[in-house]
Amino acid sequence: MGITIDFGCMIPAFSLQAVNSYAGKLRALHARLGERRAAGGLPFCDLPAQDTGGLKDCARRLAGRFANLVVLGIGGSALGLIALNSALRTPHRWAEKPPRLYVLDNIDPERVRTLLDALDPRQTLVNVITKSGDTAETMASFLIFREWLAAGAGEAGYRERMLVTTDRAKGALRRIAEEDRLATFAVPDGVGGRFSVLTPVGLLPAALLGIDVDGLLAGAAAMAARTSSPELLANPAYLGAVLHHLGWLGGRRISVMLAYADRLYDLADWYRQLWAESLGKRLDLDGAEVRVGPTPVRSLGVTDQHSQLQLYKEGPDDKIYTVLRVGAFPADLPIPRAFPELEAVAYLGGHTLQELFQAEARATEAALVKEGRPLTSVSFPVVDAGAVGEFFFWLELQTVAAGELLGINPLDQPGVEEGKQLAYGLLGRPGYQARRAELEAIRTGDGRLSFG
Ligand code: PA5
Repeated sequence: MGITIDFGCMIPAFSLQAVNSYAGKLRALHARLGERRAAGGLPFCDLPAQDTGGLKDCARRLAGRFANLVVLGIGGSALGLIALNSALRTPHRWAEKPPRLYVLDNIDPERVRTLLDALDPRQTLVNVITKSGDTAETMASFLIFREWLAAGAGEAGYRERMLVTTDRAKGALRRIAEEDRLATFAVPDGVGGRFSVLTPVGLLPAALLGIDVDGLLAGAAAMAARTSSPELLANPAYLGAVLHHLGWLGGRRISVMLAYADRLYDLADWYRQLWAESLGKRLDLDGAEVRVGPTPVRSLGVTDQHSQLQLYKEGPDDKIYTVLRVGAFPADLPIPRAFPELEAVAYLGGHTLQELFQAEARATEAALVKEGRPLTSVSFPVVDAGAVGEFFFWLELQTVAAGELLGINPLDQPGVEEGKQLAYGLLGRPGYQARRAELEAIRTGDGRLSFG
C-alpha cells in the first residue's frame, strides 16, 4: 500500500492561483529533465530497474554468519542506510536482532574505540562505503578496521569480512580493494551520495540486514510512475517543489519535517541532508551569487510537542511543515483503567497508546493549520519497504525540481568538497599544500574575546 501525500493544508498559505501560475514553467522543467535523463544525466531516476542479483547473492551467502554489521561511511554513504534500518527493522537499539548494525559516520575517537572494544572481529562483517574512495573520515576508519580484522580474524578472515562499495574505477579505495582482493560493489556513475540510497550504497547493507530490497525498488518504481506527469497538479514531486519555492519566495525559509513515529525519524534525517546539500548554494547556474537554500529541520512527535511546538505555532511564520504519520503501528498497548476519581487520569483508561499518539498527531496538525501554517501530511499506511521506496523517490525528484526552480545545480556539493580539501591540506596530503596555507591564513579568533 502506497504513501498518501496530502498538500491540502499548504494551499491556503499560498493560494491555488499562485500555484497554478507555475504550470507552464513545470511543463518546460519536465521536458528539460526528460532530456537530461535521456542523455544519462539523472541516473537516480533509473535505479528502480537496476539488477540487484549480485548484492542479493552476497547477502544470501553471508546470511546468519555474523552477529554484527559495521558500516564505515558518512553523509550520503550513511544516512540512507540508517533511515532504512530504523524504518524497516527497528529504531530501538535494545530490540535489534542480529546482525546488529553499527554505522560509523561520525569518527569521534571515543565512539570508534568503544566499538572496537565491544565487538568480536570474528563475529563482525564490515562494509566500507565511499563513492569518491578518498573521504578522509571513511578511509581512516577503514584503515583502522582493516588492521583490527586482520589482527583478530587473520588475513583471509579480513578479506572475507570486508565488503567495499565505491566508484567502479576511480579513487584510492578501488585500488586498495583490488590489491587486497576484496569483494566490491559499484556506485553507479553520476549518482551522488545523497541520491544513492537505492544503489548498493543502501541496498547491499539493507540486504545483509534482511530488508526487502525488491520491495524498496518496487516502491520507487511506483512513485516514478506517480511522478511522471508534466502536469503540476498531478505530480506530487513537482507540486511539493512549487509549494516550497513559493514558501522560499515568501520568507518561509525553514522546512520542518515532523515525524510522528520513531521509525520515521531517521527518514527525516535523510531528508535533512538531501534538502540542505542539494539546495544550499552560493552560485546559480549562470555563476551569479544567489546564496539560496531553505534550512531543513527534523522534529519528532510527540517529543517535540513539548519542546518545539510552541515556536512552530506562535513564533514567526517562516516555516513549512511536512508531517509524517503512520496508519497502523506494528505494536500497541492498552492503557490500564485506574484512579476513576481522578478525572485527569481516568479518561486515559480503556484507550490504547496508539489512540493517544494518533490523537496527539492529529491535534498538532490541526493546531498548526488553525494558525495558517503551511503543512503537507504524508501518511504511511504501514511502514514497509514499498512505502519507504516511494518516499525516497518522491523526495529525490522533488529536490531536483526545487533546485531547478531556484536556478541552481542540486546535484553538486562544492561546499562539502572544499571542506574536505582544507582538511586534506591540514593533515599533509600531497597536492593540498596550498589548501593548508589558505586555512592557516584564516583567523578563527585572536583570543581577545575568549574566556577561560
Ligand atoms: O551527498 C554527498 O555527495 C555527500 O554527502 C557524500 O555522500 C559524502 O561527502 C561522502 O562522500 P563519499 O561517499 O565520497 O565518501
